[in-house]
Amino acid sequence: MSVSIRASDPVARPFFAGEVSGVDVSQDLSREDVAAISTGMDQYGVLVFHDQHLDDGRQLAFSRNFGALEQATGDIAQGAERRLSIDVNDISNLDRNNQILARDDRRRLFGLGNRLWHSDSSFKPVPAKYSLLSARVIPGAGGNTEFADMRAAYDALDDETRAMCEDLVCEHSQLYSRSTLGFSDFTDDERRRFAPVLQRLVRRHPVTGRKSLFLASHAGAIVGWPVPEARAFLRELTEHATQRQFVYAHVWRQWDLVMWDNRVTMHRARPYDHTQVRDMHRTTVACEQSTMEQAA
Ligand code: OGA
Ligand code: MN
Repeated sequence: MSVSIRASDPVARPFFAGEVSGVDVSQDLSREDVAAISTGMDQYGVLVFHDQHLDDGRQLAFSRNFGALEQATGDIAQGAERRLSIDVNDISNLDRNNQILARDDRRRLFGLGNRLWHSDSSFKPVPAKYSLLSARVIPGAGGNTEFADMRAAYDALDDETRAMCEDLVCEHSQLYSRSTLGFSDFTDDERRRFAPVLQRLVRRHPVTGRKSLFLASHAGAIVGWPVPEARAFLRELTEHATQRQFVYAHVWRQWDLVMWDNRVTMHRARPYDHTQVRDMHRTTVACEQSTMEQAA
């Protein structure tokens, strides 16, 4: 059996989430299967694979088919406190002994930033291309992940706004996104590591040539603009881009693997009961270059 992809919700518009069947990604894949998945990613933006019983080693091996991986240096839990290897982003509510983090644990509060619409690693000079999130344990209810199609959002802008966005450059920083939730007790080291980076507001997909809005909760300034005006504008664009017609809500099943293209989508976590375990492991494929290096 080989890879086949169909729109995951035939009544949803637009069709940017594809459901993949005919592949066990814990096995070594043929070049044809990898190519079919890459083509599906270009076409859709989000792909869902059910019943993928992955461990971190197999998840890493599958992810490496699509490019060089990012290291999970964006989160604050480091060194002796890390539960997972440095190649794997820990999207769980667990400590290194697999105990649920206290409600006011700093790692949990930092992780709540995922509830804001974002694109992974937009705060790094070279941001993320693909993210691959594997559901190892899910809570009984809640904890969906929502995705917004930033190509469709770009296409739906009025001509005047589209022209205004065209050459704008934003500053992205985790210091900013966390501060909007009232999380601001950063160490000097974190302030250095999370210093703002520049990203174009409009980017072009290298394969399809389609343009999209590159927004994220991390974007807190526009170069050359007064800060309040920039934040008001970015908030309006985000409201536009996350309207219902641009959004796919993924309701997780255990052992789902969801893969998304951060160049053309934003995503956010939805709430769940924090006394229940939610254990998700994310691997991340890096882009090849900063958006500042790409032509408009
Ligand atoms: C992520 C992320 C959302 C979620 O893994 O990058 O933002 O629902 N996850 O956990
Ligand atoms: Mn994320």
